Amino acid sequence: MDESGSRAPVSDIRYSSHRFGFYGWWVEIDAGDLMQITPHIHAIKTPLGPSPDRFVHVYLVYGDSITLIDTGFSGSEKLVTEYIRSTGRDPSEIRLIILTHAHPDHIGSAKAIRDLTGCMVAAHPLDAPAIENVDPMLLKSPSPGVPPLVGGPVPIGRLLDDGDTISVGRHLTLEVLHTPGHTPGSISLLLQEKMALFTGDAVQAPGRAPIYTDPIALVRSIKRLEKIPAIKHYFPAHDMPAKGDAAYRRLEDSLTYIRRVHTAVKKAASELPGTPDPQALAGRVITALGIHPGAAPPFIARTFLADLNAAGLDDALNE
Ligand SMILES: [Fe+2]
Repeated sequence: MDESGSRAPVSDIRYSSHRFGFYGWWVEIDAGDLMQITPHIHAIKTPLGPSPDRFVHVYLVYGDSITLIDTGFSGSEKLVTEYIRSTGRDPSEIRLIILTHAHPDHIGSAKAIRDLTGCMVAAHPLDAPAIENVDPMLLKSPSPGVPPLVGGPVPIGRLLDDGDTISVGRHLTLEVLHTPGHTPGSISLLLQEKMALFTGDAVQAPGRAPIYTDPIALVRSIKRLEKIPAIKHYFPAHDMPAKGDAAYRRLEDSLTYIRRVHTAVKKAASELPGTPDPQALAGRVITALGIHPGAAPPFIARTFLADLNAAGLDDALNE
């Protein structure tokens, strides 16, 4: 057992050398990327690119049926369906996909999985429009033979509001927590009987590209999650799972990171004349944070502008 509380990887040997084409790269999936974490919760690290450090988790809740939390980029459906078969279940058992928000690395395979299974797709009302009407740029193949980031739009069959509960099996209830900030309609999910918290991108991991539209909302969302008593399992999208006290440390580490970003933004803005140019601001802050230069600059530049314009962010951080 490690900090995540993970059991040994699911031991289907086929996956120890499983490879599949993904955006023109060959990405090796090893057994450690496919995890049964509790009797009811499984995690699949789906790749975001050729580096093993960049991934998004698809979480599966096994009850009488199977519920997916997020889906990865388009193309991840192959990994999800093969994994389910390797555990002795069948993809046709997927009845529900819950999308924590509308970003392409979370919604990309939803259409393929819905087309395969006929399952319902659920999301928060504020992010649902971007799932039902996907940005056309995300539907274009970036180059011949390479799939688009998102397989297509999907209708949202169930809108999820804060406090809603979803039965996903006997004694398995997911509670919806509206945790905006990363996007307006970002949600987290608490599997109540297991005290397992799925946060999507509502909690920003230190060292990764900070992406949020409303930093004050983000800080309040994380502080709200910190107040949940007795979290046993913490399941973020782009970071490894954690267990018990380590879960709370992750939340606190995220707030520390947001403070660090805010300090760097204020310093960079003070060094630039007049209204800061977004790209110049982003360049300085990225250097100060030591973020990998390949991290999405347009998203990051918007995040830093949102930070700069968030009157009251210091108060929110110190509340
Ligand atoms: Fe996201």
